[in-house]
Amino acid sequence: MNSYDINLEKVPTHIAIIMDGNGRWAKSRFLPRTAGHKAGVEAIREVIKESQRLGVKHLTLYAFSTENWKRSIAEVSGIFKLLVTYVNSELKELVENNVKVTVLGDYRQIPSDAEKSLEKTLEATKNNTGLRFNIALNYGGRHEIVHAVQQAVSLARQGTLTPEAVDEALVDSLMYTAGQPPVDLIIRPSGEQRISNFLLWQGAYAEFVFMDVLWPDFTPGDLDRAIAEFQRRSRRFGGISS
Ligand code: IPE
Ligand code: IPE
Ligand code: MG
Repeated sequence: MNSYDINLEKVPTHIAIIMDGNGRWAKSRFLPRTAGHKAGVEAIREVIKESQRLGVKHLTLYAFSTENWKRSIAEVSGIFKLLVTYVNSELKELVENNVKVTVLGDYRQIPSDAEKSLEKTLEATKNNTGLRFNIALNYGGRHEIVHAVQQAVSLARQGTLTPEAVDEALVDSLMYTAGQPPVDLIIRPSGEQRISNFLLWQGAYAEFVFMDVLWPDFTPGDLDRAIAEFQRRSRRFGGISS
């Protein structure tokens, strides 16, 4: 047990975080929004470390949504530049810490230098067996479902998929998270209380913890607090608690 009374036997297997509030963090300091994104990227390292320390198996961070392209070119390109710097500077540590990185989303649509850095990271960490770190990038839950349906239609056209063979396991295997367990806990800092197109399929029975802290100020202690809150919930999955 630690200061937040986390039961280490019951740590959620899969935690997902909507990294929100960078813009407001910057605004409150009279800084450009990009400064908020930079501070946000810096918060990631400690959250990964804390997740490893607690034995979380899958950590999914929402970095850029399919709707975030609506922002100014300056902001969007600033975010991708930060991403390149982040993956390049963290690569050694991710490899050493046995972290396996996956991207959820259509990352081939992002600027090519960012795509190259990511591919290098995916390749360098692909055989790692520790924490599975999913970066949701150019990710949208609806887009992911559309993408899965497209794949299913194409398999059907090739004659390798029949309607009867479509079940939840098949659909799950067509998601970006194929082979990974469902999400247990979704944390959203920044005070907003909505899903914003995140993990619509995987989060079907996730517990939500909304927190007022802005993402750049998010600490390992905040992660502990969210997990402690998760452990106070009674998950019933449609059944009746024993
Ligand atoms: C989250 O912070 C980062 C991205 C969506 C890329 P925001 O930039 O949405 O911050 P707020 O919500 O404006 O404070
Ligand atoms: C969700 O935050 C996306 C990410 C954190 C990457 P947004 O700031 O885009 O969400 P809305 O627009 O407030 O719903
Ligand atoms: Mg936001």
